[in-house]
Amino acid sequence: MKDLLRQRVVVQDSIMKKLNAQVKLEAQSSAAYLAMAAWCDQNSFDNCASFFYEQSNEEREHMLKLFHYISDMGGIATSPTISEVQSDFSSLKEVFEIALESEINVTESINQIVADCRKANDFATENFMQWYVKEQVEEEFVIRRILEYFEMLGEDPKSLLMIDERVKSVTYGE
Ligand SMILES: [Fe+2]
Ligand SMILES: [Fe+2]
Repeated sequence: MKDLLRQRVVVQDSIMKKLNAQVKLEAQSSAAYLAMAAWCDQNSFDNCASFFYEQSNEEREHMLKLFHYISDMGGIATSPTISEVQSDFSSLKEVFEIALESEINVTESINQIVADCRKANDFATENFMQWYVKEQVEEEFVIRRILEYFEMLGEDPKSLLMIDERVKSVTYGE
């Protein structure tokens, strides 16, 4: 029995630490998107509000997926503390710019974890993290596409309404 137990996947402490840091980053993203959803709601950008509510939910799912992985691998998953998030914005465009910056930051963090897994020969965690690599490609694409609309249409009230309308139909890979 002892030998069997020893055969479980072992995730190094240093990798576990990074996974917990990623849990925190995903939770922070979820909270930030919730504030963006509220701002869009207050400013009558209904579809953008729905977009960010959905993003906020997705980030929580990303967090939980990591949380369960840490626990399943015998690590200690830490419920993250969230620091203050930005809740006021100068424009709708700024909301998406900040969202893109945040996604780029998350992508870098995920890439670093994958690189660390590779160095540690932790192929199980590397494989697990590949899902996040793919997810980031999609999330960055969608926000970049929306930012392109601001470039194409400008930011007068009518354009903003058009952008809010288009946000509903941005999809990746179709
Ligand atoms: Fe995420
Ligand atoms: Fe994200």
